[in-house]
Amino acid sequence: MSAVPLLFDALTLRDLDALEALLRNEAVYEHIGGVPSSELFRLRMTRALAGPPAARGNDRWLNFAVRDTASGELLGRLEATVHDGLAEVAFLIGPAHWGRGVATQGLLWMHGQLAGLPLWGTTVPANTRSQALMLRCGYRPVPPETAPNLYSYDPGDLVFTRDAGS
Ligand SMILES: CC(C)(COP(=O)(O)OP(=O)(O)OC[C@H]1O[C@@H](n2cnc3c(N)ncnc32)[C@H](O)[C@@H]1OP(=O)(O)O)[C@@H](O)C(=O)NCCC(=O)NCCS
Repeated sequence: MSAVPLLFDALTLRDLDALEALLRNEAVYEHIGGVPSSELFRLRMTRALAGPPAARGNDRWLNFAVRDTASGELLGRLEATVHDGLAEVAFLIGPAHWGRGVATQGLLWMHGQLAGLPLWGTTVPANTRSQALMLRCGYRPVPPETAPNLYSYDPGDLVFTRDAGS
């Protein structure tokens, strides 16, 4: 399978309209809480891009755009929340671009930004695409009760981890 040439850069508020058009739909939100209103989508993204509040001043919130190198088209976004010596990862790709290795390439690229940190991800059991992605990228499932405190964990979620890379 030939890989789509991808470009990664920091997501900014200038991407908000394109992000909403790409991601605020049923397919993307099926397993992550249901489609938010436009207002909520934009509020969440604006808060995410503003970075952690004072109460979480030691966190690092990383947000990356995934773009097609040739056209510059936005294909999705990647995020990592670094706290307490670990990184929680998340990934949302526009449905028109699913199944081409975009998330695989993107997640593996993001690992390079998170060197030295153990990586963690959570999904609901029905989110089999996300589980396949994490397994393909070197994560393993662990019993949730053995996991550290994860911001993204909700009771019933599956929990995956990958050892710190160099
Ligand atoms: C989960 C999600 C990120 C996967 O994105 P994706 O870009 O389709 O993932 P990939 O293309 O890398 O992998 C999907 C399939 O394409 C295949 N594929 C096709 N071409 C490929 C290539 N060139 N390289 C690697 N894999 C390729 C993979 O083998 C994989 O198949 P498999 O899952 O049957 O093993 C995407 O479905 C999504 O955004 N879902 C909604 C949001 C969500 O739930 N996010 C998770 C919580 S934040």
